[in-house]
Amino acid sequence: MNLKIIKNSKPKEKPDFSDAKKLGFGKIFSDHMFVMDYLKNKGWHNARIVPYGKFEIEPSISVLHYGQSAWEGLKAYKTDDNNILLFRPEKNFERLNNSMNRLEIPKIDENFCLEALKKLILIDKEWVPNFPQTSLYIRPIAISTDTEIRLKSSENYKFLIICSPSGNYNDLAPNKIIVEEKYVRAAPGGTGFAKTPGNYAATLTSQKIANEKGYSQVLWLEAIERKYIEEVGSMNIFFKISGEIITPALNGSILPGITRMSVIEILKDWEIPVSERKISIEEIYKAYKNETLEECFGSGTAAVITSVGELSWQDKKIIVNENKIGSLTKKLYDEITGIQYGKIKDKFNWTMNIS
Ligand code: COI
Repeated sequence: MNLKIIKNSKPKEKPDFSDAKKLGFGKIFSDHMFVMDYLKNKGWHNARIVPYGKFEIEPSISVLHYGQSAWEGLKAYKTDDNNILLFRPEKNFERLNNSMNRLEIPKIDENFCLEALKKLILIDKEWVPNFPQTSLYIRPIAISTDTEIRLKSSENYKFLIICSPSGNYNDLAPNKIIVEEKYVRAAPGGTGFAKTPGNYAATLTSQKIANEKGYSQVLWLEAIERKYIEEVGSMNIFFKISGEIITPALNGSILPGITRMSVIEILKDWEIPVSERKISIEEIYKAYKNETLEECFGSGTAAVITSVGELSWQDKKIIVNENKIGSLTKKLYDEITGIQYGKIKDKFNWTMNIS
């Protein structure tokens, strides 16, 4: 497939990248985007990099009604010597195809799309911020575009990649999280492992209630017994109990995070015991009570490594490490961001230099 390039003749003025907090997350977009179309008898075609902008849709477009869509999140990082690095991007395109497959969206050519992404970033390289805690957040997304309201798999799709210079997603200070008992995010056999809009829409009521109570996010339990911990929605979750790191095992309703996978690989390399298994909220509470709960943190592309200082469960409060960032949490944050920003040796060969 050819890649057509139409440059933006009216590039926007860039914002001040120096203040990660002011920059925010996912609020502004670079000058270009990648687009390609799918037609039943033609497959994916008309790949192009064009000026970032609006496109017209009919009110009947399938994705608005049935949410047939899947997306990804990855970042481009600028190093001190002005190189641009991607972090395990092939894993994002692989996971995107897995999500798309669950949503009945035809697969994309992962290598072609990664090459197109590299070209897009190089065209918009001035949009990759180079200040602490900033990066270019990249959002590939596939949407169904049939204009028929009958419930069926669409015959037409669009695939887009848009880019947003961004700061932190979460507060760096330890986050306060509520364990959700009333609602569930995903159930066995559902779409929990996929990055698809419905999974995120289902979390918004709980998120609102949590925010109103002064908590930043929600910790989800599984749908059947409501005992075992799953994930936070914007990040996977890890606990350190008596020196061992535990994260819920992937079970089909948890997102298979790429940062999660990297944390596990780093811990193994450091010879720190790490296990992926079922872990109940009761077990966490008991560990808190007998003072063996040492740390808790989330992992994600947007979240990076986010420290958790408090879990609210029923009428109980679980305070972790006196509400301070744990030493292993900080060490993992430094290691992962060190690799991502090219500050430390990438012995795992995870980064891809695209400059
Ligand atoms: C990401 O880390 O890219 C995510 O998918 C989280 C999203 C809610 C921003």
